Amino acid sequence: MLAIIGGHGLTELANLEITHRQVMRTPYGEPSGAFLFGTLDQHEVIFLARHGYGHIIPPHLVNYRANLWALREQGVSKVVSIATVGGIRADLTPGTIVVPDQIIDYTHGRDATFYDTRDAVYTNANFTLPYCPKLREHILRSAKAVQQPCVDGGVYAATQGPRLDSIAEVNRYERDGADMVGMTGMPETALAMELDMKYAIIAVVVNHAAGRGDNQQGVSVERVNAVASVAMERVRSILGCVVSGDGD
Ligand code: HPA
Repeated sequence: MLAIIGGHGLTELANLEITHRQVMRTPYGEPSGAFLFGTLDQHEVIFLARHGYGHIIPPHLVNYRANLWALREQGVSKVVSIATVGGIRADLTPGTIVVPDQIIDYTHGRDATFYDTRDAVYTNANFTLPYCPKLREHILRSAKAVQQPCVDGGVYAATQGPRLDSIAEVNRYERDGADMVGMTGMPETALAMELDMKYAIIAVVVNHAAGRGDNQQGVSVERVNAVASVAMERVRSILGCVVSGDGD
């Protein structure tokens, strides 16, 4: 079963035929909101809005562990995550859709592992390739099939938020090799890996990162929302194709 975690600008999927909603509980607390069970183009999916419905939970307070744990409990083996980012690399301009292939974690203080007790029998998750190569390929092929340009690969810098970045911070992320910056990539990516789920991100560039392009003094929320809402229509069309193949 495939799940879609929607981010900022994607709290619903217009073409999702909802069969039922269910509030989940986990040993880690409650997920961001009720799971929506349904079909997208006749294919079963579960949808969850990462920030809750109505965009209320900020990135640093999302219960990433509960979200992923509950999805796995429902038999989810693949997760396509939608996330908005600021573009650092020159070609990642607002409106661009990109499927990252690497991530750097700058977050702190988040519950970042399921192995959180001293007596836990733990394994060191293999994070060499943080994103499932087959699922990434499948997303990229799906985007091509619906004629939506999509950039293949890039390094996602995951920051703590909820504030945006200073120019010096973005300069540092760039020196570190990052191409885009967002607030929700971690610990979600690592937790999915710990649970052996296939996981990939469709990142939507909604603004230039600080000090890049027209972002010399900050970004306008209205502009970000406008870019997100246009791009999310394109993401919906890609998702329609993603669910129709299993990507294996
Ligand atoms: N920085 C961090 N997170 C973001 C940004 C940004 O510029 N845009 C969207 N999420």
